[in-house]
Amino acid sequence: MRIDIITIFPKMFAPVLNESIVKRAQQKGKVKIHIHDLRDHSRDKHRKVDDRPFGGGSGMLMRPEPIFAAVENIKLQSRKATKPQVILLSPQGEKLTQKMAKGLAKYKHIILICGHYEGVDERVRQHLVDREVSIGDYVLTGGELPAMIIVDALVRLIPGVLGDRNSLNFESFEGNLLEYPHYTRPARFRNMSVPKILLCGDHKRIESWRKKEAARRTKQRRPDLLKNK
Ligand SMILES: C[S@@+](CC[C@H](N)C(=O)[O-])C[C@H]1O[C@@H](n2cnc3c(N)ncnc32)[C@H](O)[C@@H]1O
Repeated sequence: MRIDIITIFPKMFAPVLNESIVKRAQQKGKVKIHIHDLRDHSRDKHRKVDDRPFGGGSGMLMRPEPIFAAVENIKLQSRKATKPQVILLSPQGEKLTQKMAKGLAKYKHIILICGHYEGVDERVRQHLVDREVSIGDYVLTGGELPAMIIVDALVRLIPGVLGDRNSLNFESFEGNLLEYPHYTRPARFRNMSVPKILLCGDHKRIESWRKKEAARRTKQRRPDLLKNK
């Protein structure tokens, strides 16, 4: 998989993407992540990428030309037969879910556009991007953190990235359930004990306990998930 990120804050990405599983996925060649400074595509001598909104109003908007130029340049560079999925990060987009992450993880090439200020010129939404994605119903200052969240959610789904394939099969949102509770050593800690069944060694009984706990927990915390079943 190849992921290109277009941003006015390229330095924000290294501390997050060059650590942990995402770093290892890059080292293993499972994903290539390219960060592009949007200002490199500005024709303005001061590398400006924003301007005032037509019709007045507060705040600045990101101009369309540098964004179109950046995306077109990436498409030329990649020279792949596969068409990239171009995503604009936006609080007005479709909300990111595990299901969406799984769908996106199937693409060979994804381009993420990080907005700023009051957002981007509407023509970017209308004529350049394939979809808009939101990470939740709140407004952030920019699309950089949402882009990193999307990268993290996708990369761990690429086959071979996580060591143990089972860790994907039994986690939250699989089969519209939250995951069952986990315990590790010690079996007794400050008078708090691990459920006895987990120590019994009978894998069938443990599995059935976990299933029940997952259902109970989902009903308690996220009954909306059960309705989507
Ligand atoms: C301050 S926000 C713009 C909000 C816009 N004026 C609105 O009301 O819809 C600036 C940029 O941050 C990013 N952003 C903010 N919140 C986001 C969210 N919940 N999900 C994805 N991107 C978000 C988007 O790229 C957006 O263009």
